[in-house]
This record gives sequence, C-alpha cells and structure tokens, in this order.
Amino acid sequence: MSETISVNTRSYLSLDAAPAVVKPRLAIEITDNAYLPHLDDLESDWLHAVAVPAFKLLRKQRRGRPFGSFAAIGTGPGLDVLAAAEILGASRVGLTDLDPAVVAAAENNVRRNIPASRRPVIQAAAGDLLAPLIRFGDTYDVIYENLPNIPVKSAKRVAVARNSGSNFVPRKEEIPEFVHTLMLDLHYLALVQARDFLAPHGAVLSTIGARVPLKDLLALGGAAGLVSSILTYTWKAQYDPAGVLPGYVRNQRKDFGPFRYYPAAVLAETFAKFSLASSGKRAFDIDAQLAPHALDAPAAYAAFKKGETIGHTVVVLKSERR
Ligand SMILES: C[S@@+](CC[C@H](N)C(=O)[O-])C[C@H]1O[C@@H](n2cnc3c(N)ncnc32)[C@H](O)[C@@H]1O
Repeated sequence: MSETISVNTRSYLSLDAAPAVVKPRLAIEITDNAYLPHLDDLESDWLHAVAVPAFKLLRKQRRGRPFGSFAAIGTGPGLDVLAAAEILGASRVGLTDLDPAVVAAAENNVRRNIPASRRPVIQAAAGDLLAPLIRFGDTYDVIYENLPNIPVKSAKRVAVARNSGSNFVPRKEEIPEFVHTLMLDLHYLALVQARDFLAPHGAVLSTIGARVPLKDLLALGGAAGLVSSILTYTWKAQYDPAGVLPGYVRNQRKDFGPFRYYPAAVLAETFAKFSLASSGKRAFDIDAQLAPHALDAPAAYAAFKKGETIGHTVVVLKSERR
C-alpha cells in the first residue's frame, strides 16, 4: 500500500525562484512503512526546517560551487536526495534505508521528479546505515543523516512504528558509554561507517535533536575517528510532545540522558539574536543564554501538561576527516 503526495518545491525548499534541477511540483510516493514528512506543519519538518537551510549554508560557504556527490542514510521517501540535487547540485546521489520497498519508492521518487537531462546518477540500495552502498565502490562529498535517536530493531518494526522511537533495541557493535547513555547510538555508528565512504574533503552532516550537551555532540566525531564542528544551531518545538516527552522521561529515569528542553518562547527569543550562518560558531554562547531556562525531561513534561510549548535545540553536526 502507498499513497502519492504532491509537494510544492519552492515552498518546501524555500527557494527564491523556480527550481533549477527538480520539478516545480514533486509527486512523492510514500509507502505505508516509510517516514512521513510533516507537510502540514513545515516548521516541524526536519528536512524543510533544519537540513535545507544547512545545505544552503554549506553551498554558500563554497561560494556556490556545486558538490559532486551526496548520500542520504535513511532517506525515507527520498525528499532529502531531491533537496540535495537542487541545493547542493549533486550529480551523483546515493540513498539507503532499511526496507527494500521504501528504497525502491525513494529511488523512483528521485527519478521521476528530475527531468532526464538534469538527473544525477542514482545509487540506491536497502540495508543498515551505509553498508548497502558498498556495492557501488564510491565515495561521497556530503553524507547526510537524520536517523532516529533510538535504534529500531528491524524494517518490520519501522513499518509498525513509523519510527515513533519507542522501541529501544541494543545493537551488536561496541558503542562508547557516553554515546549510549545520551541515546546517540545510530548517529555514532553512521559516523564510524562514513569514514569509508567520505571523499577526501567530504563531510557528514548529522541532524540531531540536541537534548544533550554540545560538548558531547562534538565528541561524537572524535569517538568515531573524525572531527566534528557545529554547522548550524537552531531549535524546534518538540514534535508530538504528548507522545515523545513521556519516552524521554522514562529513559531519563532508566539512567539515560539527562535530556534538556526549554520553553519554546525562550528558544524563539534567544535564537532571534543570532544569524543562522553564525549560529554554529556561537552555539556555546547561545547555550549559556539558554541555561537558566533549561528543563530536564520530567520538568519539561510537567510544564507541557500545564500548557507550556516545549522545544529543544537542534544541531547540524559537520564531521570531516582529521
Ligand atoms: C527521521 S527519518 C528521516 C528521513 C529523511 N532522511 C529526512 O531527512 O527527511 C529516519 C529514517 O532513517 C531510517 N533508518 C532508521 N534506522 C536505520 C538504519 N539502521 N539504517 C538505515 N536507515 C535507517 C528510517 O527508516 C527513516 O526512514
């Protein structure tokens, strides 16, 4: 079972003009086990609100020069690949996800929404993290992931849960204790694998809900054999707070975390003082201003129940070879 949704490219990618690579209106097939973009609430959509501005900044930092290649780990319906073709100008794209049907639909979404003359070479395969791309024997200039914080057990689980993040299943690989305690397992494992897939001057962009200290996020790259910096620092209202906050409360009680939240009004006021381009470099200053307002998971849930809108900061972590 699947449905096809229509996406207005200019508004989804916040473009000033008509798209140069992808079609102005995207027809996106979503299989019933695929990650669902939040098209009815774009500010809560990670790709629109977090990844797209980061892609734009990355290209601007190269004075507009296009990137040759891009790979998405856990592409879902493939919108991240379409965004990368448009914004980064990638002429070769890799994409993976756990379920073969999700990947087949994503590949088709990329193919049918870019006219043949502008279409990148597509390298698509299903499986865990970057492992499916081994068969292509290539490297990538930009590797992007927006993986769930909590590992899910299998594609079947994803199908049932649509990544609700409620199934905490340990992985077999060795994971540093601080990574596991902060529930950053998949982000870490993606970085470990990415070492073999990064082009010489390539970078991994990890989009992470920063409910944990920035210094620990920066330590992720080091632990995985790369060097991390913060490309952008922004914030989001907690999506589905009634569903998600109790999970963080439970995990904090089980000795994970602690996890940091803030009242959304404080986040809005604080981040308004910083430009996106400077936000990565100023991330620790931003945190210092936010610190007096921090709420751990139980406090955030209590505030939510009293009617407060709760949010958290968001990092786009850029990790490169040493
Ligand atoms: C939050 S969605 C992000 C979708 C898309 N990348 C985006 O940015 O809009 C997370 C995706 O990661 C996938 N995923 C979860 N665990 C994975 C794993 N171990 N390997 C590959 N993909 C995984 C999920 O199936 C899901 O499609």
